[in-house]
Amino acid sequence: MKPQNENIIIINCGSQFTQLIARRLREMKIHSVILNWDASCEKVKSYTPKGIIISGGPDSVNDTDAITIDPEIFAMGCPVLGICYGMQLMAVILGGKVSTGSSREYGVTQIHRSGGTSALLTGNIPGTLNVLMSHGDNVAELPSGFRATSATAGGITASIEDTSRGFYGLQFHPEVIHTDNGGEILSNFAFGICGCRGDWDLTDWVDGTINSIREAVGSDRVVCGLSGGVDSSVSAALVSKAIGSNLQCVFVNHGLMRLNEPEEVLKQYERLGLSVKYVDASELFLKELAGVTDPEKKRKIIGRLFIEVFEEEARKIEGAKWLLQGTIYPDVIESGTKKGSALIKSHHNVGGLPEKMNLKLLEPLRDLFKDEVRKLGAIIGMPEEIINRQPFPGPGLAVRCLGAITRERLDTLREADAIFREELKRSGLYAGIWQAFCVLLPVKSVGVMGDSRTYSEAVVLRAIHSQDAMTAEWARIDYDVLDRVSKRICNEVRGINRVVMDVTSKPPATIEWE
Ligand code: XMP
Repeated sequence: MKPQNENIIIINCGSQFTQLIARRLREMKIHSVILNWDASCEKVKSYTPKGIIISGGPDSVNDTDAITIDPEIFAMGCPVLGICYGMQLMAVILGGKVSTGSSREYGVTQIHRSGGTSALLTGNIPGTLNVLMSHGDNVAELPSGFRATSATAGGITASIEDTSRGFYGLQFHPEVIHTDNGGEILSNFAFGICGCRGDWDLTDWVDGTINSIREAVGSDRVVCGLSGGVDSSVSAALVSKAIGSNLQCVFVNHGLMRLNEPEEVLKQYERLGLSVKYVDASELFLKELAGVTDPEKKRKIIGRLFIEVFEEEARKIEGAKWLLQGTIYPDVIESGTKKGSALIKSHHNVGGLPEKMNLKLLEPLRDLFKDEVRKLGAIIGMPEEIINRQPFPGPGLAVRCLGAITRERLDTLREADAIFREELKRSGLYAGIWQAFCVLLPVKSVGVMGDSRTYSEAVVLRAIHSQDAMTAEWARIDYDVLDRVSKRICNEVRGINRVVMDVTSKPPATIEWE
């Protein structure tokens, strides 16, 4: 039998990057538990952690209402790494000083190692590296026992350590990809300093999660809205492993899916052995969306209708006490539900439903990133076609059909989109692309077909590479493939006489157009 999981506790002070710290630890096969900043030392101790990481956060430690952590944590005899706000908090609690308001070193900055190669946290990384700083405050006076091990050219302390007590601090974020050697620094902490073994993996996560679902749900029934996407499908497959037929799924066709998608998706669910109720509500959605062009209004209408249709179906399921949702971490961040993060778009799959329906919420994938969800799907034996399905937004083609939504425009978009994806598959490019789809613009331009003048709408080809949908790079697709796609769309799809390509990354654009 495997020895018990070793834990690193992450104390969350409100940073958008807290889940990234957990993810980096998972990549190192280390189990971590995220606790809120107000967790008591007793609570932290109950996990017998090998180490503690205090995350960044938006506050300034010098503010009177700044959040703080239980100071007893520093008396546990456990190594502690403070990141950004976490380092500033550690410095102040242990007797140092933080100066507020200097934004000179904000963003990606170069730092230089000053503490020699003996530094436990940073000794084996290059003498000069680019790091991401995201806080204006900095540690101006070190607590006694600490030494600085790196600084910026402007003299801001970038890393500190007190090896005798096992306390370490980084002014920058080692967990983001913009920081060079960030993974090595975290690995120095976890393996070199905390002595972790690194023998935990997603299989353990699956076992643990199945057990906790069983414990939480007991003999209650769970309802799940399936969308055909990876997240809701993996959630349903996972929960059905835990509670079997007590999971009842509902698949609402909102009429905004891609060509032949509802039929294909239903077949896959059947093969997975899930119990699925199919509801065709496309008429209702199209009626309510008629004439609406504002992106947020479209999202709100779809979200509301989805709730209404789903609610009606769920009410028919006797004894249902829980609602299963396939929320994953980027949804949580981008919906602005975490302190300190701004609303970018309303995601219709987060929030709304459980409050209205008086159901308890089950979100087993809430802390995972997309690629981890796919790995998880493979572990529980789901078919490739579902696991590797490209992400498709909850509001479907509504956010890709710019301007007013009509059945005709949706059909036009469906046909163009199917051609684009088919040609990418034919040329072997589809699997290597995170998302590829068409967007229909409400913009008419003049063209010529045979001897006739045309005046029709334009289609945009959007293809991107991404790790987690939080950032994205537009995909460079072979010109010959693009040429075939363009010719086929103009020849085969009525109502289109121009094909253009979106060459914008995220940021500044988002992946979807609305
Ligand atoms: P954006 O357009 O915000 O999209 O860069 C990021 C990722 O999320 C998908 N997306 C959604 N997924 N419900 C979803 O389940 C939604 O409302 C939604 N909006 C965008 C998008 O396709 C991309 O993968």
